[in-house]
Amino acid sequence: MSPAAERHQRGPSVTAARTSTAAPETDLDLFSTEVLLDPFPHYARLRDMGPVVYLTEYDLYGLFRYEQVRAALVDWETFSSAQGIAMNPTANELSADSILSVDPPRQRALRKVFDDALRPKHVRRVAGDIEHLADDLVDSLVRRGEFDGVRDFACKLPVEIVMDLIGFPRDEHREELLEWALGAFNFMGPPGERQESTFPDVQALMQYLVTEATPDRLLPGSFGQIVWEAADRGEITGNEALMAMSAYACAGLDTTIAGVASTLWLLALNPDQWRAVRQDPQLVPGTFLEGVRLETPLQFFSRVTTRDVEIDGVTIPRGARVVHSYGSANRDERRYPDPDRFDAHRNPVDTVGFGVGVHTCPGRALASMEAHALFGALARRATTIELAGEPTRSPNNITRGLDRLPVRVS
Ligand code: HEM
Repeated sequence: MSPAAERHQRGPSVTAARTSTAAPETDLDLFSTEVLLDPFPHYARLRDMGPVVYLTEYDLYGLFRYEQVRAALVDWETFSSAQGIAMNPTANELSADSILSVDPPRQRALRKVFDDALRPKHVRRVAGDIEHLADDLVDSLVRRGEFDGVRDFACKLPVEIVMDLIGFPRDEHREELLEWALGAFNFMGPPGERQESTFPDVQALMQYLVTEATPDRLLPGSFGQIVWEAADRGEITGNEALMAMSAYACAGLDTTIAGVASTLWLLALNPDQWRAVRQDPQLVPGTFLEGVRLETPLQFFSRVTTRDVEIDGVTIPRGARVVHSYGSANRDERRYPDPDRFDAHRNPVDTVGFGVGVHTCPGRALASMEAHALFGALARRATTIELAGEPTRSPNNITRGLDRLPVRVS
């Protein structure tokens, strides 16, 4: 058994604080396969250790409680994204021109390009297409009875509608894009085998963006064209445009797939909650939020402190990298009563699952529209949802989602 696995079996050890104002330390390997596959009991222990912990394995400070995660995300001047939000220097260097890796005021200029495309009023113009596709899809799946909740249900709208919206050419690379993006998320983790081994995915994604998804090949009227037009007007640089396309590919597809598939899984595990949704379809939006809260498609990102900062008596020094766990914050018992329970009535509009502050997700309205259309159609047609086999998932340094979800509906 590896030292990390042994430590995992023992659980995190808490040592005395190094000085009176130092954070409690743990040698828990937060990014080991075991922890990534079932992080929630570990998060609970980390939250109990204090408002800030120090992860010795990775030389990272960690925020795991809701209040502290939210406060750090809002205070971008102290918790800066400008040195990257990944947990290794190579990924941070490669993404230096990404919107995710800059602070205001530059971030605001880049953000305008995304907001122009993703504003709810613009997204609503595809609402009809989304509703239609969701209806037809659910109709055929209910007739089939058994299907894969990931590939057959959750992937369809991102691949067929969102990839069109972004403007990616309709070619054989669409399926590969999802894999490359998952690899790119893995590559954002702390240095290690999982992180290093996914570099080829990052290269393949960048190669595709440079040679295949070129401005002249993007679909007309797409988000991608808005990005490159901004570059032509000199509002953003060519490299910023490229990184914007990368952000669309990474942030806009697997996240929604993970959120939708996880919500379907939770509904299959909680038939009483599905009955409630069917009886009152107004619960659909809150049910999707509850799925995002509990399973949180993006579990972590990080920031770097621009000054010594004190949080409830614990000092994080200037220049420290601080990982914040959206996934743990969303299960904080200090914020959500009975946090591990899936409750279709909870309606957690305050979830940090879509981020908070200046970097809050600009794609939230689009992702929600897709999910509402899918679960709304399902509520009209499926009386029951049950598992038809064991779901599978792969560990990822950043994302949490399912690979396969065999379900049966009637
Ligand atoms: C369930 C689906 C989704 C989830 C859970 C999600 C989650 C997030 C989170 C947590 C952030 C904040 C990053 C930070 O704090 O640094 C974020 C940012 C972002 N998301 Fe989403 N997202 C989803 C869907 C989408 C979609 C559909 C798009 C676009 C098509 C998108 C595009 C972006 C972009 C471009 C950013 C960076 C914004 C900035 O840095 O200012 N996301 N997302």
